[in-house]
Amino acid sequence: MYPKGFDRVVFTAEEISSRVRELGAQITVDLRQDPGNTLAVIGMLKGGFIFLADLIRAIELDLTVDFMAISSYGGASASSGGVRIVKDLSESIFERDVLIVEDIVDTGLTLSYILRNLRERGPRELKVCTLLNRTARRIAPLQIDYSGFEIGEEFLVGYGLDHLQMSRNLRYICTVRGVGP
Ligand code: PRP
Repeated sequence: MYPKGFDRVVFTAEEISSRVRELGAQITVDLRQDPGNTLAVIGMLKGGFIFLADLIRAIELDLTVDFMAISSYGGASASSGGVRIVKDLSESIFERDVLIVEDIVDTGLTLSYILRNLRERGPRELKVCTLLNRTARRIAPLQIDYSGFEIGEEFLVGYGLDHLQMSRNLRYICTVRGVGP
């Protein structure tokens, strides 16, 4: 299945799957828990849900899953700086080890807002895992603990990433013509 305007596959399903397994193994080693401590994995909707579903099955630790969604004011991009929570967590993260899962970190403004917000809730530890990292466009300085792939300026869709809300269900990640720089 190819989306309208399909251009080029950037990451195949096999490449993604292999990298997700590596990330899961690394996270398993790094975040090995004290007995009785359960990792809180937080997925950022919508784009992160497919990556999260695969990643948690590659992490061999006791964990819970929760989701959060944020939106930019007035439909503007996060680079305008105005973001708000449209779906908050269901569970407390107080004194929990937390892993935030994103599909992509671009300017970093969304994630820096989320980190500021979640830090105020008193987690024991706050780590970030993103599938795609576009450091060339970073505005907000951030520490990314786990990153799947470094990417360039191209606009990417698939494996959770959308174009006009479509193409999230592609098993691979690709470029489409006429979008992006
Ligand atoms: C994407 C992604 C991040 C944000 C990153 O979400 O999931 O949340 O953009 O961009 P930034 O680093 O420049 O702030 P998007 O707004 O595309 O929404 P979606 O997850 O619902 O597709």
